[in-house]
Amino acid sequence: MREDAGSALTAAARRSLAGTSDPRLRFVMDRLIAHLHAFIRETELTEAEWLRAIQFLTATGQISDDRRQEFILLSDVLGASMLVDEINHPAGGPVTASTVLGPFYRPGARDLPLGASISQDARGEPAVFSGRVLAPGGTPIPGALLDVWETNENGLYEQQDPDQPDMNLRGRFRTDAAGRYTFTGIKPVSYAIPDDGPVGTLLRALGRHPYRPAHIHFIVSAQGYRPLTTHLFVRGDPYLASDAVFATRDALVVDFIRHDTPTEAAAHGVTAPFYTVTYDFVLQPLDTATAPGGGTAPQSARIKEAQP
Ligand code: BEZ
Ligand code: FE
Repeated sequence: MREDAGSALTAAARRSLAGTSDPRLRFVMDRLIAHLHAFIRETELTEAEWLRAIQFLTATGQISDDRRQEFILLSDVLGASMLVDEINHPAGGPVTASTVLGPFYRPGARDLPLGASISQDARGEPAVFSGRVLAPGGTPIPGALLDVWETNENGLYEQQDPDQPDMNLRGRFRTDAAGRYTFTGIKPVSYAIPDDGPVGTLLRALGRHPYRPAHIHFIVSAQGYRPLTTHLFVRGDPYLASDAVFATRDALVVDFIRHDTPTEAAAHGVTAPFYTVTYDFVLQPLDTATAPGGGTAPQSARIKEAQP
């Protein structure tokens, strides 16, 4: 196939964007068309393959609703969600690493007092989470909000599982005057992402497993700081090196320390055996927030001239 096959068509499609008044939209769409056409040219895509792709995307949309987010899942298993995350939240420095939101976040979790349990059904092995929310220099941030969620011991989030109470294993906590938080949850388990839809079919065709290493999710926010979306992962989990959505970061892997004594458990209001985890989150002040790429450039710097 000629390397310039269809180049007049590509040029025409790019010229069709000339009337787009939003310069960022024009730039992003121009790059999308250029890369998509180059991909089709490079792979010499057949009509049957293109139709198959359209059918796949149609099925991805058809299975999606407010409880099932198949497009987020697709973005996740292709590594796209994590790439966007890494570009917008470069690793390194004192700020806690971020990772993907995933498709199972639900707003509106109960506001709970410090020390409360997010489990409404007492299943799983209890885990007591505690630590502080800090500014980069170590100054505690009082009143920071931690929005947390995790699966039950069967590896299912409550909206996937009719046997769990609504909003089970979700909660919102505010740090005290010393920036401290503590709450009880359960020791996270590794679980399979939903694989009974088009994304699961794709994973099987690629010979990939659907598992994520055990983790608990957090969105940590405070006035004057950039909100942090992250997880804590369980050290020793067998899937840490092959997360189906490429979202592990070494700095987020923590020790879950096991305790077997009933008196210790009683002091924490749980039953033995139980686990403790300690982790301090460090937020980025908004006035030092950087643009993608690490610079402090404003959004307009990301609107480059379209290259031929
Ligand atoms: C999650 O951790 O909840 C998740 C993230 C990406 C895809 C599926 C699940
Ligand atoms: Fe998860």
